[in-house]
This record gives sequence, C-alpha cells and structure tokens, in this order.
Amino acid sequence: MSVLKYEQIKVNAALEKELAAMPAPLRDIVGHVLLAGGKRLRPLMTLSSARLFGAEDAGLYDLAVIPEMIHVATLLHDDVLDGAATRRGRASAHVLFDVPRAILAGDALLAAASHKTASFGIPALLTCVSESVLMTASGETHEIALQHSMAHSTAEYVDVIAGKTGWLLRGSCRLGALYAGASPEQVEAVSDYGLNLGIAFQMVDDALDFADEAETGKPTAGDLEEGKFTPPIMKYVEFLNHPDREKFCEKFRAGTFTPEERSKVASDIRRLGFDAESRALADEYLDRAERSLEKLPQRFEQKIFREALGFVRNRKS
Ligand code: FPP
Ligand code: MG
Repeated sequence: MSVLKYEQIKVNAALEKELAAMPAPLRDIVGHVLLAGGKRLRPLMTLSSARLFGAEDAGLYDLAVIPEMIHVATLLHDDVLDGAATRRGRASAHVLFDVPRAILAGDALLAAASHKTASFGIPALLTCVSESVLMTASGETHEIALQHSMAHSTAEYVDVIAGKTGWLLRGSCRLGALYAGASPEQVEAVSDYGLNLGIAFQMVDDALDFADEAETGKPTAGDLEEGKFTPPIMKYVEFLNHPDREKFCEKFRAGTFTPEERSKVASDIRRLGFDAESRALADEYLDRAERSLEKLPQRFEQKIFREALGFVRNRKS
C-alpha cells in the first residue's frame, strides 16, 4: 500500500471519529461531504510538516483533521454561493438537504475545528487556524466583489485565489510546523511552500473547470455561469474576434449562458488548449514552493512535499 493511501485511511478514520462526536442532528449532512472521498491533501500536508520537524505521536491525526474540517466547511458554503448542484460526484449538500442546513453544517464544522484546535492548549495553533479562516473568507468575499466583471488583471485574480485557497493550504503546513516546535524561519518557509502550493492548486482547479463532469465530479464550466474571470476565460476572450467577443462579454456580465453555450465554450477551450496554457501558469508558483523547500530539513517528508508539487501540476480531478 502506498504511503498516501495508508495516510488517507488513517485520516478518514480520524474524521469518522470527529463525525461521531458531533451532535446527532448534524451528522447526516456533515457526513455527506466529510466522508465523500476527498483527496485529503491538507491533512497530508499537516502530517508531513509536523514529522519534518520531528513530531510523531498519536495526537498527530487529531491535528491533521483540523484543516480538512475547515476545508469541508468552505465547500458546504461555497456550493451554496455558487449554486453548484454536484460536488465530489454527488449531489451537493444544499441540494440533498437544504440551504439553511448546509450553511449551519459548515458553521458547525468550523466550530468543531476551533474546538479541536483549542484542545491542544497551544495558542499559536489557534492563531494559525483563525487567520487561515479569516483570509479564506476574505478571498472569497474579494471574488464575489469581482463576480461578472472582466475589468481585473491576472494579479488581482492571484490575490483572490491566494486568499480563498492558498491561505488554508498555508495554514495546513504551518499548523504541523508550529505543533512540532519548528524555528520561526522554518515556520515561515513551510508556510510559503503551502501558500504557493495553494495558489497553484487553484490555478489548476480553474483549468479543470472546463473538463468533463465525469472526470472532476463538479459541473463543467461552472465558472462561466458564476461569472469568475479565470485564466482560461481571459484567454478565450482574447482569442474571440470582435462581434463574438462583444456577445460573449455581454453574456458573461449578465450571467446568461445557456447550458449548451457553456458546454460549447468548454469544448472550444479544451480544443484550443487554453486549459493547458492556464495550467502552465501554476508552474511559477510550484517553482516558488519548491524553492522554499531548500530551507527545510532534508528528511523523508521532503519527498512528500515534492510529490505534492507533481500531484498539483498533473492532477486530473
Ligand atoms: C472553491 O472555489 C472555494 C474555496 C476554495 C473557498 C470557499 C470559501 C468560502 C465559501 C468562504 C467562507 C467559508 C468559510 C467556512 C471560511 P471554487 O468555487 O472556484 O471551486 P470549486 O470548483 O471546487 O467549487
Ligand atoms: Mg465553487
């Protein structure tokens, strides 16, 4: 069995334990998303970071589930905000249950994650978790403010994704280092690694938005409907000739693409290679992440951090 598979099993067992400890009315809806087979990248980062700095004890999995609980909370809220019908190949929680319960399930998971963090009695862990949640909410709010607008630059897009995705991956890595008592310089280096990995992760996610739902488990071209001006869409707009561009921009601003138009744009984007070109933008951030690794101890976990770079670069779902 691969190290990754082994860790996923251990993390899933720890998540099941968290779910069982939740008040009964929350269990169905929280379990629907929490146990829906995510990649568990964030817990793996926390475990690897803690071990890289010499921590190894039974409490590590309790620490590692914290960023996953926050991640799942953001997904519950995100699918409501995006009106997304599917997630991880299943009906979204707000569709299967309803919007109020999906929001409350996210709130409950955030509270459970804070409770778990507090249980370690290390104030720096709470600071790390709260700043990660704060910056995630800020990034998402920034994104909402820009929705259906085509006036912003790639740099502003990077600001948004650093907030909504980068900060929680940063927090996942930082949490392990703080727990293990790493030096301030090492805590910053592993945090930079996580932030840049997260930016790259979201760039690849935004390229994958145009893949088939059968591959990703999420609606194809959801970003078009949601008015998110991501790199594949920026490239597509540049490619269109004048009258087509005008029509496209009008629909993007109004959010009025039909499902047929969305699937046509998605297949055009794939055929023209704009998803692959957008994926390549992630390389700069993966390189930055890799450079941060040079400042970290040379132990086995470095290999996992390096493999995570390749995983993000090449992932198909
Ligand atoms: C997925 O992006 C969404 C996020 C990475 C962050 C969502 C954050 C919130 C809803 C903010 C508030 C929530 C909490 C609990 C702090 P996406 O919609 O581009 O990706 P997707 O295709 O996976 O939906
Ligand atoms: Mg979404």
